Amino acid sequence: MKSDKNILVSEFQNFDTAGKGSGKRRFPAGVTGANLSRRRGGEVSDARGRKPYGEHGPRALVSGNVLITGGSGSLGTAIQKLISCDAPDRSELDIRSVRKCEQAMKKYKPDIIIHAGAYTDVSGAEKHKKACWDVNVIGTENLVRAVHGRRFIYISTSYVFDGEKGDYTEDDIPDPVNFYSLTKLLGEIVVSQYKNTLIIRTMFKPDGPWSFKRAFVDQITTAEFVSDIAPDIVKASLMQDLFGIIHISGTKKTIYELAQKVSPQVGKMSIKDVDVMLPKDISLNNELWKKLK
Ligand SMILES: NC(=O)c1ccc[n+]([C@@H]2O[C@H](COP(=O)([O-])OP(=O)(O)OC[C@H]3O[C@@H](n4cnc5c(N)ncnc54)[C@H](OP(=O)(O)O)[C@@H]3O)[C@@H](O)[C@H]2O)c1
Repeated sequence: MKSDKNILVSEFQNFDTAGKGSGKRRFPAGVTGANLSRRRGGEVSDARGRKPYGEHGPRALVSGNVLITGGSGSLGTAIQKLISCDAPDRSELDIRSVRKCEQAMKKYKPDIIIHAGAYTDVSGAEKHKKACWDVNVIGTENLVRAVHGRRFIYISTSYVFDGEKGDYTEDDIPDPVNFYSLTKLLGEIVVSQYKNTLIIRTMFKPDGPWSFKRAFVDQITTAEFVSDIAPDIVKASLMQDLFGIIHISGTKKTIYELAQKVSPQVGKMSIKDVDVMLPKDISLNNELWKKLK
């Protein structure tokens, strides 16, 4: 007989982006971002009613051993230029393995874990749902369980939103339009069950020339290049009493405008030109972060 967990996995793996706008239910019943972040008395709080920072606002930066996942990725590389931390590679810490997660905690004894490892191929995720699921949902769960209450930072994405509204606050209800984004939202839900966690929703692109020949003229973002965003991500990660959800982002622009900054000759394309559904306006409102930083 299938366990409840397996039933949930199979239902999510049938997640249908084509159902968008057709009135067809895209989430298994009861799972939305609404239980993750809701407004109480005008303040943002998480599912347990905790505000994303202590009663008196954030205070000092915490210190201690930092361990990051995804150290070979673009954010992981940028973080390692800013702080000293342990960054075991995937051969040592494959988060799909419970045993490897536990071994890494024993070996490195981190006080803070920044979880930046993920399956990030948005288009590939539609074809390889299990591969994406195993890293972004199961892997995140394996890791956060092994952490046993230490400070845990989950790097999430503005892609958890459907892109219809833009200027999303921490309070807005996620509604992902593709499988990658769904798994990132489920990662948020998994980590929010554990105390001492901070979810950072952000968006960034690798430093250097634009990696593609063309860029989206019709996708609005608050992304910046990773070395411009990473310092704020590190600061939030180390900020005492900051937990819940925080949006860290830059200024509003199209992806094409961002690409032009580093590759003026970049060509134009539409989000309709790709084989995966992408959200239109995933700009994040970062007013809360600006007050805190
Ligand atoms: N890039 C963006 O635009 C963007 C926007 C918002 C949020 N994010 C989030 O930010 C985080 C970092 O993104 P990024 O763009 O820096 O990622 P990236 O460059 O694509 O790198 C992904 C990292 O995850 C690691 N990884 C993959 N599978 C793993 C596994 N099973 N166990 C352990 N590590 C594994 C990879 O290791 P290998 O080198 O071994 O493959 C790599 O270090 C991710 O959580 C992503 O969802 C990214």
